Amino acid sequence: MIPLKEATAEKHKQAERMPFNVRMFRSLLSKDEYLLYLIQQAEVFKTIEAIGTPHESLNRYPAVLEDIAELRPVGSTEEVLDSTKAYVHYLASLTYEQVLPHIYLNYLAIMYGGQMMKKVVPSAGKMYDFENMPQALQAVRSVQRDEWADEVNKGFDYIIAIFDELEKVTVN
Ligand code: HEM
Repeated sequence: MIPLKEATAEKHKQAERMPFNVRMFRSLLSKDEYLLYLIQQAEVFKTIEAIGTPHESLNRYPAVLEDIAELRPVGSTEEVLDSTKAYVHYLASLTYEQVLPHIYLNYLAIMYGGQMMKKVVPSAGKMYDFENMPQALQAVRSVQRDEWADEVNKGFDYIIAIFDELEKVTVN
């Protein structure tokens, strides 16, 4: 069976190259734009963490809320995009076992690419700080299965749709 990382490499490349992500990586997002991205991340993490994660240090929702509080202007409203609503609606329908591929997808994203991202985003980036990174990573690695490829690729499609909508609503 093809290793999971290899079987999802094409979609990873596609997600990495989404214009909004490229702007984020090049430190070109305004605080408002990055805030909008964090609001989407918060929805995804909140939904997954309500179902459960294999290690407490993985949980990102409280840290994302701190980043949001740092950036949010007083009285501003939170805009959850349609593409994010579609992903969280799907996530909320999953059992703990079924949500694990999405934990691999969304939490390893923060652990790997995220460590580079932390240095270039217009925020303190608490979302990228893990208290027990080696243990948190190991908790995902120990449950990860190559059989997850289709589900992880499906998750990538939702993520790509979110990046697409983020770009549409921020560039005009
Ligand atoms: C600018 C954007 C990104 C960069 C620079 C980046 C970079 C990386 C790097 C360097 C790795 C480690 C690869 C290795 O072990 O050789 C990685 C792994 C990973 N990334 Fe990304 N990434 C980005 C975006 C994303 C996004 C948007 C997602 C999904 C939401 C994602 C999901 C993952 C996953 C799941 C892995 C773990 C693969 C594995 O080892 O099994 N990445 N990324």
